[in-house]
Amino acid sequence: MTSIKTFIDSNRDRILEELFELIRIPSVSAKQENNPDMIRAAEFLKKSLKKAGAGKSEIYQTAGNPVVYAEKIISTKLPTVLVYGHYDVQPAEPLDQWKSPPFEPEIRDGRIWARGADDDKGQLFMHVKAFEYMTSSGTLPCNVKFMIEGEEETGSGSLEKFCRDNKKMLAADMILISDTTMIAPDIPSITSGLRGLSYVQVEVSGPDHDLHSGIYGGAVLNPCNVLCELVASLKDKDGHIAIPGFYDDVLPVSRKERNEMAKRPFDREKYMRSIGVDELGGEKGYTDLERTGIRPTLDINGIWGGFTGEGTKTILPSKARAKISMRLVPDQKAEKIAGLFRDHFLSIAPAGVKVKVEYLHGGEAYVSPLDTPEYQAAALAVEESFGKNPIPVRSGGSIPIVSTFEKILGIKSILMGFGLDTDAIHSPNENYPLFNFFRGIETIQMFYLHYTRLKS
Ligand code: BES
Ligand code: MN
Ligand code: MN
Repeated sequence: MTSIKTFIDSNRDRILEELFELIRIPSVSAKQENNPDMIRAAEFLKKSLKKAGAGKSEIYQTAGNPVVYAEKIISTKLPTVLVYGHYDVQPAEPLDQWKSPPFEPEIRDGRIWARGADDDKGQLFMHVKAFEYMTSSGTLPCNVKFMIEGEEETGSGSLEKFCRDNKKMLAADMILISDTTMIAPDIPSITSGLRGLSYVQVEVSGPDHDLHSGIYGGAVLNPCNVLCELVASLKDKDGHIAIPGFYDDVLPVSRKERNEMAKRPFDREKYMRSIGVDELGGEKGYTDLERTGIRPTLDINGIWGGFTGEGTKTILPSKARAKISMRLVPDQKAEKIAGLFRDHFLSIAPAGVKVKVEYLHGGEAYVSPLDTPEYQAAALAVEESFGKNPIPVRSGGSIPIVSTFEKILGIKSILMGFGLDTDAIHSPNENYPLFNFFRGIETIQMFYLHYTRLKS
């Protein structure tokens, strides 16, 4: 029987070419114009999973983008792992900053360069290939189900209903997800938590048309100025969020857990260099890692209004807008936080402007227990393939469906991700090291063996 290493070595080019085919489909869920591409990506995965050995592989329509569901059931006596991934990607803009076109994958410096190379096409495809190896070599030790969706990057809006409607089909002992990062191949880690998210858009309207800034300037409230003042007031000088009630549901993290977190290696200088800044900033009283791992945030993702073209134009704009995301921690609730935001924002708006707050999407935070066979199996698999016992890390990112899975299906997830923070996901020049891609396939295969052994 061929080993997984031999399988990878002798199928290397084919595996990459297949992944590239998936990456070439510009499945950007944020854009209506890419709707046909969502269907193409789903079709591609349905076929890939079928070819990889799934007994069933189907596309399920939702109110949004289709879900691909596949399964290979060997025996109802064996444990069942549900693999989750997403085939949608973030928009590729700004296009002029890419060194090679975002949807024409290219290998340079031992990395795959493309939108989705890591998040999440590269990472989910490792699962398809580990599965293909196990079915073709007759070594699959347990039942496997796949659920791959196309709305993760826009908040997984249709997925709660999909889970409710398909509880039986999705039944499993655990959920396995590769859509997060590890610290480094020589400092392996497993994600032990995710933050939640509450995403709002605000609009400040003043005069019903743009005004000459000489004729009217000084006497009329300028929506852009007002918006800046309002959003600036949302945090105090210590970086605490000034929305009443915002912290009410934040579960305190014990000194012990904070001390554990502090042991995690973190090279502050290297971190700053990798993003081109010479100082960091955030909430007073917390370390850099605590600020991203266990504390909530409020960030402007985009702010616009008035004249932004070349040269100058002298106006008081009629409207100003901003998109604001709040990362949440246990036990904050996304909708409740959006409500607190709205009440506060409306209450501080001055007379002379109208303010609108729209809740765009959200999801809850997630914490994964470490003393379970599921986590044990992941830790063993990572240790075996990366040579070191992985460190559990609470990540700052969000995968909204993970808390939905827990709430609706009652199933916990393991976040065994193989990306690196420097893979530039969501940014120009997203990339994924080939080393992580292929080592990940091996790790996933080992996970199944350990998990099935520990469960029986
Ligand atoms: N894969 C990421 C989440 C992630 C990345 C978690 C790295 C941990 C480490 C996911 O695709 C993502 O980008 N999620 C969005 C969620 C949102 C759009 C609802 C996020 O975190 O911004
Ligand atoms: Mn992702
Ligand atoms: Mn993403």
